[in-house]
This record gives sequence, structure tokens and C-alpha cells, in this order.
Amino acid sequence: MELTNVCDFNCVFCPNEIMTRKRGYMPTQLAKSVIDEIYEAGLTNSLMFNLMGEPLLHRDWYDIFEHADKRNLDITFGTNCSRLDDVTLDELYSLPLKLIIVSLQTPTRGTFGLRRARGFTFEAYIRRIRRVLWKKFESRNKVRLLVDLLNTCSFVRDLIDLRSDIRVLEDDDTAKTVVRAWVEFAKTVIDHFGLGFVVPSPTDIESIRLRKGFAFEILPGVILETKRATSWGNALANGTRIIPGFFGGCGALTGACGILWNGDLVLCCGDFDGRTVLGNVRETAILDILSSDYAEKIRNNFKRGVLTHPYCKQCRGGTTVGTWFARQIGTIITHTLHIPVQKGA
Ligand SMILES: C[S@@+](CC[C@H](N)C(=O)[O-])C[C@H]1O[C@@H](n2cnc3c(N)ncnc32)[C@H](O)[C@@H]1O
Ligand code: SF4
Repeated sequence: MELTNVCDFNCVFCPNEIMTRKRGYMPTQLAKSVIDEIYEAGLTNSLMFNLMGEPLLHRDWYDIFEHADKRNLDITFGTNCSRLDDVTLDELYSLPLKLIIVSLQTPTRGTFGLRRARGFTFEAYIRRIRRVLWKKFESRNKVRLLVDLLNTCSFVRDLIDLRSDIRVLEDDDTAKTVVRAWVEFAKTVIDHFGLGFVVPSPTDIESIRLRKGFAFEILPGVILETKRATSWGNALANGTRIIPGFFGGCGALTGACGILWNGDLVLCCGDFDGRTVLGNVRETAILDILSSDYAEKIRNNFKRGVLTHPYCKQCRGGTTVGTWFARQIGTIITHTLHIPVQKGA
């Protein structure tokens, strides 16, 4: 559920800049009624509060999260952490949170420019993220933090034909240096709070290969992991000619769907521009939208690895015959056969 598609960063690796739909904030009353409807229909026990945009820019984020908690829904979201000063962190950590994706993504001075982050130097940004980790322990919040690093190594780039200006974590040595620095910071947290926790060993760090990805628990409940870059359904691929896919797997409609700030229900969290609207939750009950004949068809076809919606065909297609084939096969392996491919992918 997208609280807003407005963002204060403009990351080069994100489709924020090419998004054409109107920017706005989900009315608080709508957010609460969607939560009530989800709870009453027993649709899920976990809500993620973003699709595009920075969720903590919504002025009523606290009320909305609190409302979700009262309806026994797990609170999860991704954030660039821009709003998380100490006061906001105290508010946030007063809630029983399940999972936060801490979008560090650009962990070096040389790559931080890709965030086009208003008001932050690289040093201030790293201090901010460290504070987010520190205050988790100060507040004793049980939330799980996934600190994500964007993996754009050559294996990933070739697989998705990623646009050439999107280059973040590319070589194993840089990745090792980054992990070592975060482990050193983790040791200071462990000492300060007397956590009695064993950090990843030098041998663990030496074994890092970006091709495989990694996920290290650096503090209790804090995972430093790679996130494999995506091309957002080929929107950030090199070239504009997309060969549409025929087959492919996806968790859309079976595992999750998206509700945009204006109430449009879309197939998946990758539909940044609202191209797969199945209905609007202001006008139609969520359950009715999800059980329409078209939604049923899409869902049943996905289970057989067959693509129905033109947007899914573009998403699972490719710019070359190689990427076209690899993406279809790859998504069948991960989504239809459920074989994990990468750590921290
Ligand atoms: C669109 S953002 C919205 C939430 C929030 N603004 C943030 O940055 O965490 C959702 C997540 O997608 C990640 N992301 C953006 N572009 C990506 C890409 N090309 N590949 C993989 N992840 C990406 C972001 O870093 C973030 O973790
Ligand atoms: S990745 Fe997040 S922070 Fe960056 S522009 Fe996209 S929505 Fe904003």
C-alpha cells in the first residue's frame, strides 16, 4: 500500500524520474479504511507501506501505522531514512514494527551521488543510517532491519541489460571493504549495549562474491545484504525496443499486489506507473477486484508460467534475444519452481 509516490531523493537507479502518474498522498481516511477492509476480509497479516515514494513523507504515517497495528497487521516498509532524525526514530520505534528495509544502496562516497539526495552529504547519510541501527537497540525494538546494498555486478547487469549509467556495487573488493566498515561499526554497538553477539568473521567477508550476493547478520536482527538491481520491468534497460515475453513467473496476485496512493489496485509492486490497474478500492471492494474473471485468469496463468497482461509481457521480455530468454527462464525458476538463485537477491 503506497502512502505516497512523492520522494525527496531522485535515485538514478529508480524509475522516480520517469514515472508519469500524478504525485500525491493517500488520504488518511482511505488508508485506514483499506486497512480495515484487509483486516475484515482476512486478506493478509502483513502490509508493506510503499511502492514508489518515501512513505515517511506522509504527514500521518504514525497514525496509519498505529491503525494497522490495532488491526493486527505487521508493519513493514522500505525507507531512504531521510526523515529519520532522532525525534522521528523515537516515534517510529515506539511502534511494534516487523521489518524495515533500510535502503542504504549506495555505500561509497563515489556512488552516493546516484541518490541525488537533497540536503545530505555522504558522511551525513552514513551517520543517519548508523543512528537508525543504534536506536533500534536503544529502544529495544524487535524490528528486523534489512540494510540493502544495490548489486550491479556484471553478472546482474548482463542478465537484465541494465542501463549503463546505473553502476553501484560492482566489484568484490569494494564490497568487502564496505562490509568490513559496517562490521567495525557493529562492534561498537555490541560493546555499548553489551549484546554478546558474534559478527561475521574475516573469512566470511573474504568469501564475498557479488555474483552470488550475500546476507550477513551484523547485529541481532540487522542484516547487511545485497539487493540485486532490477530494471523495473525493462523500464531501466538499455535500449527501448523490448521483445515481449510469452512465459515467466511472478508473485503478483498470488503473493502480493499493490494499492497506489489514489486507490488504484495494481498487479504488483513493480508497476511503478500504474499500468496494470484492475480496479479502484474507493469504488469496488478489494475482494471483488481480486476475484474478477480477469484477475482469476492472470493468477491461473501465472501458476502455469504463462503471461497474460501486456505489461507483464514487457516486464518479463528483454532487449536482446539473450536477455529475453534469460528473464523468462530465470523467473520460472525463482517464482514457479521456487528455486532460490542468490543470497540477498
Ligand atoms: C522505490 S523504493 C520506495 C521506498 C523508499 N523510498 C526507499 O528508497 O526505500 C523501494 C525499494 O526499491 C529499491 N530500488 C529502487 N530502484 C531499484 C532497482 N533498480 N533495483 C533494485 N532495487 C531498487 C529502493 O532502494 C528501495 O529499497
Ligand atoms: S529508490 Fe526510494 S529514495 Fe530513491 S528515488 Fe526511488 S523512491 Fe525515492
